[in-house]
Amino acid sequence: MSKRQILITSALPYANGPIHLGHLLEYIQTDIWSRFQKSRGHECYYVCADDAHGTPIMLKAQQQGISPEQMIAQTSIEHQADFSDFAILFDHYHSTHSDENRELASLIYQRLDAAGHIKRKTISQLFDPEKQMFLPDRFIKGDCPKCGAEDQNGDSCDVCGATYTPTDVKNPRSVISGATPVLKDSEHYFFDLPAFEDMLKAWTRSGSLQEEMANKLQEWFTDGLHMWDISRDAPYFGFEIPGTTDKFFYVWLDAPIGYLASFKALCQMQDIDFERYWAPDSTAEVYHFIGKDIIYFHSLFWPAMLEGAGFRKPNAVYAHGFVTVNGAKMSKSKGTFIKARTYLEHLHPEYLRYYFATKLTPAITDMDLNLDDFVQKVNADLVGKVVNIASRCAGFITKRFDSTLSATVTETALLAEFTAAGESIASHYEKRDYARAVRDIMALADKANQYIDAKAPWVLVKDEQKQQEAHDVCSMGLNLFRVLMHYLSPILPMMTHDAQNFLQDEFGWQNYQQPLTNHRIEPFKALMQRVDPAKVSAMLEASKENLLPQQQNNETLTAKAAPTAEASVAKEREAIADTISIDDFAKIDLRVARIVHAEPVEKADKLIRLELDIGAGETRQVFAGIKAAYEPADLIGRYTVMVANLAPRKMRFGLSEGMVLAAGPGGSELFILSPDSGATAGMRVK
Ligand code: MSP
Ligand code: ZN
Repeated sequence: MSKRQILITSALPYANGPIHLGHLLEYIQTDIWSRFQKSRGHECYYVCADDAHGTPIMLKAQQQGISPEQMIAQTSIEHQADFSDFAILFDHYHSTHSDENRELASLIYQRLDAAGHIKRKTISQLFDPEKQMFLPDRFIKGDCPKCGAEDQNGDSCDVCGATYTPTDVKNPRSVISGATPVLKDSEHYFFDLPAFEDMLKAWTRSGSLQEEMANKLQEWFTDGLHMWDISRDAPYFGFEIPGTTDKFFYVWLDAPIGYLASFKALCQMQDIDFERYWAPDSTAEVYHFIGKDIIYFHSLFWPAMLEGAGFRKPNAVYAHGFVTVNGAKMSKSKGTFIKARTYLEHLHPEYLRYYFATKLTPAITDMDLNLDDFVQKVNADLVGKVVNIASRCAGFITKRFDSTLSATVTETALLAEFTAAGESIASHYEKRDYARAVRDIMALADKANQYIDAKAPWVLVKDEQKQQEAHDVCSMGLNLFRVLMHYLSPILPMMTHDAQNFLQDEFGWQNYQQPLTNHRIEPFKALMQRVDPAKVSAMLEASKENLLPQQQNNETLTAKAAPTAEASVAKEREAIADTISIDDFAKIDLRVARIVHAEPVEKADKLIRLELDIGAGETRQVFAGIKAAYEPADLIGRYTVMVANLAPRKMRFGLSEGMVLAAGPGGSELFILSPDSGATAGMRVK
């Protein structure tokens, strides 16, 4: 394995708001990759910064009666505390409002200008005569020019969906002062993006971009590239454009340069060669992790700016989808707009790191944080499988075998199976397919538990003749646990730290294949507690606190508290049905279905009417008797499994075209099935 030089970034969060769980998907995704690369022995740096410029930040500081500098200083402290508490380990966290960034932004601008890539043109824009400033689109409201709906945005109508330019808005007003805006001329500076079309096309074809992203770029090329307006007039919180006194760089010009600035500051502190990473002929690797909403900036403007200013381009830009909670967009009124801090006040950060990891793939699909699924997955996998291995073996070693693992490993084949999986798990991490890595690791965890079940050390220890065997089995169990924790370490750094203390070892790719023998360990302490569903509900409640009482009234609590394990284990199991042949089973056509709509049924208090997407554009209506167990709103967006070839049944309320699968005795104790993440509507369950 040759040593790579890798620089990794996440998008720079705006300095005017708190970090929330949507952001965290990105920082957790990137942090796992960075920790993985470091664990492989590569030279790897992960940098980020606050994105501190722009009109919203200027206005928010004004509202608070403080300077923008004061506001961004405070936010930076809060952001960094959130990141650090989620174990997101930046090598450096900077600010775009910094000397390094000012210098680099000026340098890049001057080089672009000297090469003829900056054009000047006078344009006419809406101006707030009271506030004496030009108005960004989102600070203009008025009537839709298409349908006439009142109080619509400056660039789009929520009622009819039309998009338009702010100058077309009827009865426009400034959101800031309420004044009627007037048109005013001003000279703007433009970056000549079309000049880079050929280079960008070649870069797109270079093969390292995600397929969806390359396709998106293809569409943009077809639509045609345009000049990009990079200047803003005073008053503006940002960097003055060199050679002017009243023009500033648009926030998106200096924001990505913030990646360079943060890295430069790190280079100065740690004596790293900046040029080695950023010179045009650099052999180091550069990757940007971003959300899908900012692909345009990162895949067109940014590589073009770098190229035009004589820097190398990134190897790839990796985009991810957006977080939804319980199947819907994060919503303040539902309590699902969850801030990082609110989460931390209720739940362990590694629950979220793990849950996101189980669902992260290289694709740009949105990711649902289904809170029932979250509780169940963390409890079943981390507590029920992984920690369970250690907790079943550790006590015997400590109490009966002098806290020392046995001198030999008895099950070499089993251990070899565990260590042989390492390179393939590593390749899943490398490809950012954490879902796949976790699936493989959990399959091994199942094997380890089966091994312990079969050997039953708790029985062996009672037999004087079998002390050696008991010792060997427990030692073996802990060695398997050690390999699994090593594999999970990029995802669970805190738990890894505790496991290393417990095993008195440091896990790594150099030593994971050599088992610990004749090795002293520390007494076992629970490495992870079960997720308490009550804490999840409390977190949602706390997330709602900022709302007006009137907004709260018509809200339903979105999290259905997950049943505790004890409650869901029926006292007596229903008898297994008569044997059937595989052909009998094959008659039942089970399909993955996405619940696109769910609503209560009038005069039927047990039923929910579901609309199920079963792929190929087909939807089915199903009446399901699950009302006592689920809120309809909580079901929307979830995936489940349905019987797709059941004869339709005419009911009082309409036709029921199938059946959704659920388990449990009934009433509120009903649990609908969900496929593993990655499954899509219409897939056959076989
Ligand atoms: N400041 C810009 C980025 C400049 S990068 C040179 C910005 N900031 S942001 O705070 O709005 O978003 C930061 C990152 O978080 C972006 O990559 C964005 O896509 C991501 N997310 C913000 N909300 C998100 C979700 N709900 N879900 C997933 N990612 C989301 O954009
Ligand atoms: Zn309209």
